[in-house]
Amino acid sequence: MIANHHSTLLADDIERLKRERNAVILAHNYQPGPVQDLADFVGDSLAMARWAAQSSADVVVVAGVYFMAETAAILCPDKTVIIPDPKAGCSLAESITADQLQAWKNNFPEAVVVSYVNTSAAVKALSDYCCTSSNAVKVVEQIDPEREILFLPDFFLGSHVARMTGRQNIRVWMGECHVHAGIDAETLTKTVESHPGAEVLVHPECGCTTRALALPPQGVATQVLSTDGMISHSRKSPSQSFIIATEIGLLHRLRQESPHKQFIAASEHALCPFMNLINLENIRDGLRDLAHVVSVPEAVREKALLPLKRMVAIG
Ligand code: 13P
Ligand code: SF4
Repeated sequence: MIANHHSTLLADDIERLKRERNAVILAHNYQPGPVQDLADFVGDSLAMARWAAQSSADVVVVAGVYFMAETAAILCPDKTVIIPDPKAGCSLAESITADQLQAWKNNFPEAVVVSYVNTSAAVKALSDYCCTSSNAVKVVEQIDPEREILFLPDFFLGSHVARMTGRQNIRVWMGECHVHAGIDAETLTKTVESHPGAEVLVHPECGCTTRALALPPQGVATQVLSTDGMISHSRKSPSQSFIIATEIGLLHRLRQESPHKQFIAASEHALCPFMNLINLENIRDGLRDLAHVVSVPEAVREKALLPLKRMVAIG
């Protein structure tokens, strides 16, 4: 009861501050439920970037992780972009630095560089294209089939893109997200065995994607989807129960969008510690103090803009 009262007061403060600052709150699908519930927009990485780019707000609070705020800052240089907790990093984005990418490019100077959006602004600035999990295959399909591709930093997503496009000339960086890599073949198999008949939806960053695609048919074939892809697919699918292989914050939105269907986490432990640093208190503080403004040096921003614009336009 006391906790509920506290949350209501915080939500009221946030609403007032939003009006005063002409601010919007943009949340990723993995955010804690109370943050999703008061956000102006909730979506996957691609939808967040598109929504930020068209917003007329002066202040954008990114309830997500640092690279998402950097992406908004690159696309919207006239807006004040805030991250409620600057420690909200990403283990995947940290798996490649700009120096490592430059060294890789030096070995393959003719290659086209495709970077997942889960990268630093400095890495994006060295890239030809950015992509997200929802348009990675389409982005790669746009590239001349004769050109070699350096795909980074996620090994599982890169392998999925190579499988879907049939391209042999993709070199994939060996990075991973510790949350998704932890959803491995053994974990998925156990969950599938204890929920026969449930449809399996897998995020392409997962360690179990290859196993998931090799599963005996559960009535409906396994789908490899981004977080927004899982939401729209589960709404339309005739299935009544789904095994969800991704970060468990997504279950909140899945259950809201399809309240009569059952959603089972492939792994109950798949919780991103960075996403969960964001809460109503630090959103309120960020808006009140205009604290933790994320900006990208102009020389980096200029170079990162083209690959990001390509990402926003494709798919
Ligand atoms: P999407 O929202 O693009 O599916 O990405 C998942 C993710 O891990 C973001 O960090
Ligand atoms: Fe990064 Fe993984 Fe967390 Fe997504 S779930 S923000 S990829 S650490």
